Amino acid sequence: MHAITSPERGGLGQQLAEHVGASSVVYEREAFPDGERYVRIEADLHGEVALVADLRPHDAVVEALLAADAAREAGAATVTLLVPYLAYARQDRAFNPGEAVSSRAVLHALASAADALATVDVHNPRVLSFFQGPAVSEQAAPEIADVLGQRSVDLVLAPDAGARDRAGAVAGALGCPSDHLEKTRISSTEVQMKAKELDVSGATVAIVDDIISTGGTMATATGQLLEAGADRVLVAATHGLFVSGADKRLDEAGVDEVLVADTIVTDRSVIPCAGALARGWQQAREA
Ligand code: R5P
Repeated sequence: MHAITSPERGGLGQQLAEHVGASSVVYEREAFPDGERYVRIEADLHGEVALVADLRPHDAVVEALLAADAAREAGAATVTLLVPYLAYARQDRAFNPGEAVSSRAVLHALASAADALATVDVHNPRVLSFFQGPAVSEQAAPEIADVLGQRSVDLVLAPDAGARDRAGAVAGALGCPSDHLEKTRISSTEVQMKAKELDVSGATVAIVDDIISTGGTMATATGQLLEAGADRVLVAATHGLFVSGADKRLDEAGVDEVLVADTIVTDRSVIPCAGALARGWQQAREA
């Protein structure tokens, strides 16, 4: 088995290789003068190959298609895409007439290049059915709990009912209680939280979600918890997009620490996703 990555993801490739007993191979990438990408794998591949496919920045989708093709040219019998952050998972239907169903378009393209797909904490698991082949999403809750376990957390909260299971899994691993808030989205950067009777006085609270995008969700929840007397609020998520002034929004809200996984590489990516991706790879192989 081989774990193939881009030059930037060589570290993740080595971690994956250690988890599953594979060899790690880094592909060569160049850009033609007109900007088109070029990928080459200089290795003698055989058997099963897992290819780490980042889908951001957005032309990385093209690179993933090229790398999967290169893997077959180099001898791979099967290619499983390991997608740390499955972008485009939010536009899973046409909300208005004439809109692209982005998840379907992207997953159809990926399925044309690969046999199976594994990702981590997909925003909406239903989109996986757009991939024609085995497609699984593995939870990063154990890895999130490992990092929060070093921080004396008293309570784990989900910002909305949809994130309740993830918060419950993290709390279970930490041996502390969990609960959820009630979120209503007002605009792309603004959310409202319904006040909830929670005794957080003097507590260290961790809010756990799948994505931090604009930071609006985490900032609003943090404000409410600090107002209710929480001593410290930590926010943890699998995917840190940090767009539209998220860092400032989180700082101003009084967040004590922001922890995200390296599904997207940022300065705050202290939670390793390799274990979750390796479990996903295993699941996809068995599916
Ligand atoms: C929403 O359903 C997601 O689980 C996240 O809560 C959301 O993407 C976070 O977005 P933002 O950081 O912009 O509030």
